[in-house]
Amino acid sequence: MTALRIDGKAFAEQVRQEVAEGVSALKASHGVTPGLAVVLVGEDPASQVYVRNKVKQTEACGMRSFHHVLDVDTSRESLMSLIQSLNADPAVHGILVQLPLPAHLDSKDVIEAIDPAKDVDGFHTSNVGQLWTGGNPFVPCTPLGCMKLLKSIEPNIAGKNAVVIGRSNIVGRPMAALLLNESATVTIAHSKTHNLPAVCREADILVAAVGRPQMVKADWIKPGAIVLDVGINRIETEDGKGRLVGDVDFDDVSTVARAITPVPGGPGPMTIACLLANTLEAAKRSVS
Ligand code: GUN
Repeated sequence: MTALRIDGKAFAEQVRQEVAEGVSALKASHGVTPGLAVVLVGEDPASQVYVRNKVKQTEACGMRSFHHVLDVDTSRESLMSLIQSLNADPAVHGILVQLPLPAHLDSKDVIEAIDPAKDVDGFHTSNVGQLWTGGNPFVPCTPLGCMKLLKSIEPNIAGKNAVVIGRSNIVGRPMAALLLNESATVTIAHSKTHNLPAVCREADILVAAVGRPQMVKADWIKPGAIVLDVGINRIETEDGKGRLVGDVDFDDVSTVARAITPVPGGPGPMTIACLLANTLEAAKRSVS
């Protein structure tokens, strides 16, 4: 078997197109332009790349972008004061504080300061609580993108065995909640899980979000499973340029799985597209 390659890049383009249409409609109906504020503290190179892409794509779909870059040794008070002013600013519908933060800042404390109605990352406990107990939360963007890709392949998730490797607040836990909300039977595996390959072999749907390059091999996969690879890892190559790979050994696993996301070009591009969709949703809620 050669697995279907799930094209996250094309899917993200489609989501961005829909968002751009929604932005035009909201401008026409209510005179409101959705605005996203992105806050970056420090100069982490990977975060700088993400933030640049976010700003570019926000503007490309017709939204306003407010970009705040703070010094690496910014105090908690200064950051909190910026968040308070963004909470109060009617032109700002979504607020994203890029993680990780420098060690002297407590990310939980900072996230809790964001107005939950503007928490387009879906990290505030109010949104996390609603994700698990019901309601209408903002859902974290990477798992939301994964669900869209998954449903494009398999609309009927109820009763399927889903295994999520990784228990982070950004991906693993919300991914598990989304799968559970679709009535999958969900296992969250992590670094202490016994016999991880055997656990993964039970999965009809496998989501890898651990940050271990090419860890998941063909003999971990149930024939016909759907595999979503959230990992983005840079590995050394002989030419010295390096290469991005996921947590899944793509070529190996492709021989057994029904469908698989590549890296790059899988869930990655969907993350920013879903952030834009969440920002549009926040702007719509602000006028309803
Ligand atoms: N760092 C890595 N992924 C994310 C994300 O989805 N949101 C934020 N705010 N920071 C991140």
